Amino acid sequence: MTTDTAARATTDIRDLAEADLDRALDLCYSVFHLKPGDRTRNFHRDLLRDGLRVGAYDGGQLAGLAGAHRRTLSVPGGQLPCAAVDFISVLPTHRRRGVLASMMDALWRRCAADGRPVACLWASESAIYGRFGFGAATEVYGIEIDASRPLALRLAPDSRPLRLIDPAEAPALLAPRYDATLPQRAGRFTRDESWWRAGALDLNGASTNAGQDGFGAARVVVLGAPGEEPGGYAVYRTRAPGEASPGVVSVGELEAESAPAAAALWAYLTSIDLTSAVRVQGRPADDPLLYLAADRDQVRVTGQEPSLWLRLVDVRAALTTRSWAAPVDLVLDLRDTALPANAGRFRLTAGPGGATREPTWEPTWEPTGEAPDISLDVRELGSCYLGGTPLRHFVHAGLATEHTPGAVRRLDAALETEWLPFTGENY
Ligand SMILES: CC(C)(COP(=O)(O)OP(=O)(O)OC[C@H]1O[C@@H](n2cnc3c(N)ncnc32)[C@H](O)[C@@H]1OP(=O)(O)O)[C@@H](O)C(=O)NCCC(=O)NCCS
Repeated sequence: MTTDTAARATTDIRDLAEADLDRALDLCYSVFHLKPGDRTRNFHRDLLRDGLRVGAYDGGQLAGLAGAHRRTLSVPGGQLPCAAVDFISVLPTHRRRGVLASMMDALWRRCAADGRPVACLWASESAIYGRFGFGAATEVYGIEIDASRPLALRLAPDSRPLRLIDPAEAPALLAPRYDATLPQRAGRFTRDESWWRAGALDLNGASTNAGQDGFGAARVVVLGAPGEEPGGYAVYRTRAPGEASPGVVSVGELEAESAPAAAALWAYLTSIDLTSAVRVQGRPADDPLLYLAADRDQVRVTGQEPSLWLRLVDVRAALTTRSWAAPVDLVLDLRDTALPANAGRFRLTAGPGGATREPTWEPTWEPTGEAPDISLDVRELGSCYLGGTPLRHFVHAGLATEHTPGAVRRLDAALETEWLPFTGENY
């Protein structure tokens, strides 16, 4: 498929006017076949109003929309302003004429002007976004636990009390525990109250779709006595058993300060009466649950898929902000057809240290005329950036080239993180 450049030229790409917010939402809901309730629509309108937003106008008609929320993403050793791309929609009458491609070009300019070195998205179709420089940067495992019997554990669970709390009180109570995960795992968003309510807690009812999926509203269980800082929490919903279907506990988010705290929460979730399966759509591949379960037949991995796709919009800012696990001094030849300022040969020097980093380890990314040690595309660098995928996997797949033996091993050692990056929140 190639884009129709003549038709592309007739579409006027400009900032979406505030007066067009409702038209834009109508366009988005029609192409995604959605019928959201009023609370979700209001939340989306606020997001669009406060975010980066590009419209494609064909005369008086709004033919396309691209938005991005202003969010902050955890990266190894820190956080970065991020454009969380969303609402990508083109009218079916205008598809495959290059409207999306034009809107993405405009979005990159807005990211640069807004000081956002990285962009990210959840792809509804994985085939679309690689061409725009996005690489899959985090992945999630689907997990199902057989809850017809007590969860068999290899360690003693935390013995502090468990209590159910009102979800409306959850943001204030849970935020410190969630925030403590940000320096640990890259790929997570900072959250304000509105993101807690709309995302993790689903208080707008977007996921339950007014109960049509058979699951009830979100419940929140907390580990620790009232007045204590929670040692962990889980957000979950339940569905009663039917004639041909088991009772199910569906876990949205679970955070714990330690393995025993996680064990206590998983043991609780598998012990809820009238349910015999615990299903979790998104857990990190290194989730301690997979190791602390005594019987892996009871805890099964049911799926594995990319979650967050990452685009390095300003490669220098992104590379010099993250921390590095090992010394590295390499020349990279980087391809980036959409953002040529990123492309070319650069020397990367970096090393470990974090907050106590010696000045000599300050990461640098400088143009050079020297021969490259590695050639790669910005898409692959995006996939490796958070520490989720080693670059050698792409070399083995023929998608990046090592010119100097050992160079890719050294880069992978420097990119590595203690915990895998993880994005559970699908905004
Ligand atoms: C997906 C969508 C935004 C594409 O918009 P579009 O204006 O038709 O896309 P473009 O014409 O700019 O296409 C740009 C490139 O992406 C490719 N592409 C577009 N949609 C694609 C798809 N669904 N699968 C694979 N490739 C796709 C085009 O072939 C083109 O490739 P080329 O550069 O090799 O020529 C549009 O079809 C749409 O709104 N779909 C419904 C909503 C949706 O799926 N949004 C994305 C959610 S993450």
